[in-house]
Amino acid sequence: MSIAGFNRDRFVETLQATLSPTTPIRSPEHLRGREKKLEDIRRALVQAGRSVFVYGDRGVGKTSLAQTAAYEHQSASKAPVLIGCDASSTFARVVQQITTRLLGLDATLIKQANQQKAGLASNGISAEAQRSIERGPVPLPNSVDEATTMMSQAAKKHSAVPVIVIDEFERITANGERTLFADLIKQTGDQSMPFKLIFCGVASSLDELLDAHHSCYRYLVTVELERLPPEPRFEIINEAAKAFGIAIEPSSLGRIAAISDGFPHYIHLITEKLLWEIFSDVNLISLSTPAHFLEAIRTAVLDIEAKLRTTYEKATKKYVEADQYEAVLWALADHHELSRRSADIFNGYVHLTRTYNINTLPRDKFTQRINALKRPTHGSILKGSRQGWYEFSEPVMRGYVRLQAEAQNVTLGADHPAEYRGYNRLQTPN
Ligand SMILES: Nc1ncnc2c1ncn2[C@@H]1O[C@H](COP(=O)(O)OP(=O)(O)OP(=O)(O)O)[C@@H](O)[C@H]1O
Ligand SMILES: [Mg+2]
Repeated sequence: MSIAGFNRDRFVETLQATLSPTTPIRSPEHLRGREKKLEDIRRALVQAGRSVFVYGDRGVGKTSLAQTAAYEHQSASKAPVLIGCDASSTFARVVQQITTRLLGLDATLIKQANQQKAGLASNGISAEAQRSIERGPVPLPNSVDEATTMMSQAAKKHSAVPVIVIDEFERITANGERTLFADLIKQTGDQSMPFKLIFCGVASSLDELLDAHHSCYRYLVTVELERLPPEPRFEIINEAAKAFGIAIEPSSLGRIAAISDGFPHYIHLITEKLLWEIFSDVNLISLSTPAHFLEAIRTAVLDIEAKLRTTYEKATKKYVEADQYEAVLWALADHHELSRRSADIFNGYVHLTRTYNINTLPRDKFTQRINALKRPTHGSILKGSRQGWYEFSEPVMRGYVRLQAEAQNVTLGADHPAEYRGYNRLQTPN
């Protein structure tokens, strides 16, 4: 036993209760650094006819904020209705899904029952009847009017004012479908419908919604989520350590916060790995060591979301000169500014490669490499914001690039100028 008072079962149980690298947060005590945003949503939800749109980069914490707000506002008798959109989602299908959930019907059971019925009755049944069976008890609405009627009737059967979260809004791509949601938001406002809508999506999906209907913005409170600032990053790590009655040594604390680039997933993941390292140490540990941290980084790299890993590999690993591409990416991630000029990245690149004894490419070769990283053959890992400027296509990728560098013993600088404020703060367990 390497953490006093923790056998394996208690360790796992405490770990699950304190860290959630892959599942969204649903309660305010675990949601760090979002107090102001949560309060903005609370105020919007108590106002009649207001809907909310939470927007920000992928992985920044949109679903966690939306679900925490939804659970808080939803009356205790029922859970809020959480809907995730996908490429096949249309306005009518999303409304059908919401209504089904509001009525407490299990969508999969309905589908199975219908398939059975359809199977039994498949001889001699008209095509129209067949379609209606397949549609199930909740039909697809034919208009926005019909949609609001269906939703408000179902809402009354659910709870006083159900909260409905429509997540991953940007994944609805079918033509004209987003315009219909703008109409729904407007009608919900005009008619003070007995439910609350919270949308989540990337910024461009909000722009399209607002473009679709110019008066939509009056009914919508928009909440922008930025990457987490340093303080809440430390809180996530320290609170987790506190639950085990141990402390994390200050340089590891600072490194985890810096590598994460403000994307909470990385903080949860690395801290989880770190706690496992501490737990499996043969000695009794009350303060983590740099060795625990290094091992945690190595295992975190292996456990990262497949999409990020494959993009990174496509960008670098399949090439003979993999390290040359990696060093270019590391140099770009080695700064707090997201979008940077080629000349500045090159200066940082020269410094980095010399410090770590990596082959330094001349400027023209460097430019070729960095331009190649924009192409689909290299996973389009970078994009050009304007002539001669570069940034990661997905900001969340920066965190993975920083993690990869660390795993290869290359320490990149703080992503945030104020980061160092927290570096020397050693938290002692109560
Ligand atoms: N404020 C926070 N404090 C602590 N942990 C957080 C916070 N916000 C998010 N997390 C954690 O970060 C991870 C990613 O969060 P979440 O899924 O909410 O992001 P997202 O923006 O919805 O991502 P995506 O764009 O991929 O849907 C989750 O595992 C969650 O537990
Ligand atoms: Mg999400």
